[in-house]
Amino acid sequence: MEKYYRQTVSAEEIQARVKELGQQITRDYQGKSPVIICMLKGAVYFFADLTKHIDLPIMIDFARLSSYRNGTVSGEMQVIADITTDIKNKDVIIVEDIIDSGKTLSYFIKMLEKHNPASIKICAFLDKKERREVDIKVDYVGFDIPNYFVIGYGLDYAEKYRDLPFLAEVLDPAKL
Ligand code: IMP
Ligand code: MG
Repeated sequence: MEKYYRQTVSAEEIQARVKELGQQITRDYQGKSPVIICMLKGAVYFFADLTKHIDLPIMIDFARLSSYRNGTVSGEMQVIADITTDIKNKDVIIVEDIIDSGKTLSYFIKMLEKHNPASIKICAFLDKKERREVDIKVDYVGFDIPNYFVIGYGLDYAEKYRDLPFLAEVLDPAKL
């Protein structure tokens, strides 16, 4: 199995970086009580590890969006699960696995803005800048990566491999 993907970031490197991000968020939000939103399913491991390193009275919530994809062309956005927390006048941090085109998050941010939060920031485990189609400001980034398909630490290939503790580049999708 292993030869069809190649580890690019180890579990230890991931944990060290996630700890740094949690500490940075802790400093940036001193005196505040942010609502941290996990984007399902991909951000689940990142979110669980990150929030353990945020030393603030946070609230957590979950959202799941899906885009109908026609091949690689992403189409209409569908909200499968929305948050239930009242975010009016709250500081919101969206935690996402990867920013690719940026379409998912730009759609979600527009949804959240209707509830008049005090602020909205984005924390993404990975940023594939080359692939950006819509302009979106990512405030916290775990790792910048080139345009290759990755699996592990929440990221899937056809819903599998999310549970790998490390990040890997897919070498031969036909054999996965
Ligand atoms: P976008 O930014 O709206 O294009 O969508 C980002 C979503 O595409 C992520 O939440 C992932 O579900 C998926 N995605 C993009 N690139 C990868 C990848 O390399 N591996 C796994 N999923 C990916
Ligand atoms: Mg996803």
